[in-house]
Amino acid sequence: MNTRVLTGITTTGTPHLGNYAGAIRPSIQASTRPDVDAFYFMADYHALIKCEDPARIARSRVEIAATWLAAGLDPERVTFYRQSDIPEIPELCWMLSCVTAKGLMNRAHAYKAAVDQNVARHVDEDDGVTMGLFSYPVLMAADILLFNADKVPVGRDQIQHLEMARDIAQRFNHLYGQGQDLFVLPEVQIDEEVATLPGLDGRKMSKSYDNTIPLFEGGAQAMRAAVMRIVTDSRGPGEPKDAENSHLYTLYRAFAAPAETADFRRALEEGLAWGEAKKRLCDRIDGELAPMRDRYAEFMARPERIEDILQAGARKARRLSAPFIERLRVAVGFRRNVVAAGAAAVPAGDAGPKGKPARFVSFRDEDGRFRFRLIGGDGAELLLSEAFDDPKAAGTVIKALQQPGALQAMSRKEGGRVLVSLDERLVCAYSVEVAGDVEQALASLNS
Ligand code: TRP
Repeated sequence: MNTRVLTGITTTGTPHLGNYAGAIRPSIQASTRPDVDAFYFMADYHALIKCEDPARIARSRVEIAATWLAAGLDPERVTFYRQSDIPEIPELCWMLSCVTAKGLMNRAHAYKAAVDQNVARHVDEDDGVTMGLFSYPVLMAADILLFNADKVPVGRDQIQHLEMARDIAQRFNHLYGQGQDLFVLPEVQIDEEVATLPGLDGRKMSKSYDNTIPLFEGGAQAMRAAVMRIVTDSRGPGEPKDAENSHLYTLYRAFAAPAETADFRRALEEGLAWGEAKKRLCDRIDGELAPMRDRYAEFMARPERIEDILQAGARKARRLSAPFIERLRVAVGFRRNVVAAGAAAVPAGDAGPKGKPARFVSFRDEDGRFRFRLIGGDGAELLLSEAFDDPKAAGTVIKALQQPGALQAMSRKEGGRVLVSLDERLVCAYSVEVAGDVEQALASLNS
């Protein structure tokens, strides 16, 4: 069995060089391994928690998808989709919310940080805290558990979220699994090898520090202009440089083979001017990015192509999530379309010839009217009733049908169909081909 690797990318910003080296490049590499099934998705429900600007959410989604595709992600191999195209995610999120202790969520770092800030500002503890922020880890657990991911590659700041996902999964398994595990317990994957790039000022490259080097946006010029702004020490040309303590060198290392890196280091130690070193860094980065930049521009010019890819990804994902949520619905006590109407499902009588008893199932249809089905012992639908305005009327018909001999008295044949009426009103009709099965099923109920 292949290892299922899954990760989400929050769609609030434009990817920068740090995102590329720290997440995009290693994830794409991992997805090419033959023993890995990768699931990568655009976490736009998560984006809503941080960002209330629809234009930015929309733009970011296109930019991020274009970046991953341009960087070499193969949508045939990887299940690449948008979170909001998978309705099973919010549905599972609710099921999980109902088994998640509020106390567990109180301990989430992101929520606690918001509370601490509010306390420091002498405002209400929960000032500005939405339910989205508070329940963020439950949504993330739903993303992961819905696809039974084995490994979740994330940054260190997400470790706690993975622990919470495991806690929630365990609780759900315990409550509803009936001895079988419904969910796989996911493991966090922190890749020590992966480069955390420093930004222009030497701190971690991050939009919140405003120290990023652009990836594709603005083309090669924008990338070069940013590299020229990298902060260096005041050693002049000809003076030996301390490569190990220069973040310029750290950046170079992330884009060069070990031998090239060693050459670069030697050159710095022998007095290479910072200006020249920046040029060499640009050339290295550009050597890797230039071909991707063209593909990025092509995707950005045709966002409908991205849309097609994401839709195909959603179909692929839902082939797994739709049947799985069905199983979960059954586990928690739901069944599709079964809404109690009056006396809900009428309890079945004796087992039919096929073992399980036949039964009536009442439900409310799309127009809000009441209908019922007769389900045979093998689970097949034998008949579907007409629609009734109130559940009692449907209940009366169900009762009438169960009186011995009633079906015969109520039905007549017409054009290959059996029409069943009560008080001169048509209550249901079915093909003569299933008439025998209907009679048998009813007989099993009123015997
Ligand atoms: N919370 C993650 C982040 O900010 C993004 C994310 C959402 C995610 N859902 C996920 C990551 C599921 C891994 C798995 O980085």
